[in-house]
Amino acid sequence: QKPIFILAIESSCDDTAAAVMQNDKVLSNIVAQQAIHEQYGGVVPELASRAHQQNIVPVIDVALKKANVTKDQLSAIAFTQGPGLMGSLLVGSSFAKSMAMSLDIPIIAVNHMHAHILAHFIDEEGFDKPEFPFLALTISGGHTQIVKVSSFFDMEIIGETTDDAVGEAFDKSAKILGLPYPGGPLVDKYAQLGNPKAYKFTKPKMPNLDFSFSGLKTQILYFIQNNVKENPNFIDENRNDICASIQNIIIEILMEKLKLAVQQTGIKQIAIGGGVSANSGIRNTLKEAEKKYGWKTFIPKFEYTTDNAAMIGIVGYQRFLENKFNDASVVSKARIDF
Ligand code: KG4
Ligand code: ZN
Repeated sequence: QKPIFILAIESSCDDTAAAVMQNDKVLSNIVAQQAIHEQYGGVVPELASRAHQQNIVPVIDVALKKANVTKDQLSAIAFTQGPGLMGSLLVGSSFAKSMAMSLDIPIIAVNHMHAHILAHFIDEEGFDKPEFPFLALTISGGHTQIVKVSSFFDMEIIGETTDDAVGEAFDKSAKILGLPYPGGPLVDKYAQLGNPKAYKFTKPKMPNLDFSFSGLKTQILYFIQNNVKENPNFIDENRNDICASIQNIIIEILMEKLKLAVQQTGIKQIAIGGGVSANSGIRNTLKEAEKKYGWKTFIPKFEYTTDNAAMIGIVGYQRFLENKFNDASVVSKARIDF
């Protein structure tokens, strides 16, 4: 059977990404990160769209060259429809539409959140694929969701954050500790050297499977302020223990909801995705849960967990097989109902 080649484009936030897929295999996966936002301590939408505009052609060029695929070989172009920053999404979708028009091939508009979940179906040696139905825990700087996944195209959000995302909880805590943005990986690094039981923070009381992280941020802020008042070197002297305790409470919050989700659905396969799934504490806790609760957990290859285009490409491939294409009039959406 003739192979299907899909060019995938992801431009929902601050990374310009392109990938080329041959069926469910990744031939190239290129991400141009926008360092500009570091100095502002967060993503600046205007600067993000401008950088996408600058990066998109070279990134796609590199992706095609690295994959050793020519434009004429492409079967379809998949791109992120949303959710995300409107100015950033528009760059990717307009480019995808024009390129597809000139090549006379179909377009596939992909929901970024579906893509984070279906990244688990990329064919990659040493990585198992979950079986339907499974639960997906999507944790990143922009999202925190528990999703019941019944098939490639049938997903239901059963829990999500009502305020900050988990990644924001990590990044904002890091900021309080004077760490540079994004601070999540640094909290993880110091946490590995500290005592997770050193300081006690309380879990928010949230009903059902929903999350809240903004109260935790305030709790940490007051905790640090009060201690620094008494000892100006409090952070420097206790950084590892503080980070370990913050990470510990975040993991406890996630695990509490996951356990409840397993109880409510009877599903014991858990697939995690999003940048925060890089966290060593979360990974270890999930591995322990396999033994402790008889769960089976799935953590994709790191380059497919943070924002990337290969995850858009795998959805493109599944949609191609089903002939689920989009009309050229499809529009970008800052928010998408699942
Ligand atoms: O998926 P991602 O690259 O971008 C989106 O937000 O969509 O996720 C980035 C988030 C940031 O908040 C970053 O601090 C967090 O993931 N992160 C981590 C770790 N690595 C990345 N948080 C905790 N521990 C880590 N090791
Ligand atoms: Zn994302």
